[in-house]
Amino acid sequence: MLRNIPLLLAITREVVKAVKVPVTVKTRLGWDCNNKIIVELAEQLQDCGISALTIHGRTRSQMYNGEADWTLIGEVKNNPRMTIPIIGNGDITTPQKLVEYYDRYGVDGIMVGRASIGAPWIFSEMKHYLATGEMPVITDSEKMALLRRQIDESIDRIDEYRGILHIRRHLAATPLLKGIYNFRDTRIAMLQANTRDELVAILDRIESDILPNRDNLKTKTV
Ligand SMILES: Cc1cc2nc3c(=O)[nH]c(=O)nc-3n(C[C@H](O)[C@H](O)[C@H](O)COP(=O)(O)O)c2cc1C
Repeated sequence: MLRNIPLLLAITREVVKAVKVPVTVKTRLGWDCNNKIIVELAEQLQDCGISALTIHGRTRSQMYNGEADWTLIGEVKNNPRMTIPIIGNGDITTPQKLVEYYDRYGVDGIMVGRASIGAPWIFSEMKHYLATGEMPVITDSEKMALLRRQIDESIDRIDEYRGILHIRRHLAATPLLKGIYNFRDTRIAMLQANTRDELVAILDRIESDILPNRDNLKTKTV
């Protein structure tokens, strides 16, 4: 759609007209480095009647390469013509970076993508850090409880088989289970589990036997 702006705007206008709920748009800076059109596009989208705009600070051609460029996100936010909330997105990986970018670019909100995969507690950490300037202590068992809740919610939303397929990627990425000595077989079993019962039994074992000894296990690798 970033290669056909008139069509993008026409579709947006029609969607806004057709539904009763607020319509928001998420897009990138533009198609490629020669077409970083977001400042003008943001105005045009606002004129279509959208209620908020999220901007990922990369171009489409960049895919996920390079660092997200937030300067244009800041430019959109500081454009006096813009009145709708602007949500910045791209490469926010820690509560510290969130606060830094929030303050520097003055955005109304920040969207966090990849850093939350396998670490859903990052939102509590970020909210707490934003409010207090301090990192909250989130225990391993609280983190495990959140991962278990994600499994259940994923199954409830889709179905058991596909819900587990979906959430296994999150479990594979979780920092909670990184760097544990001799964890390979457990990890493979976890990532091959096909039913909720199987997966929960493995997580039970991780929680009762592996996580409490994680620090001892880690020192053995030294
Ligand atoms: C697995 C995956 C799926 C995604 N799916 C969508 C999507 O459906 N719609 C969308 O606008 N962005 C999608 N994105 C992009 C993210 O929302 C986000 O813009 C991008 O990852 C940059 O933010 P981050 O650095 O916080 O991850 C996806 C990203 C990943 C890694």
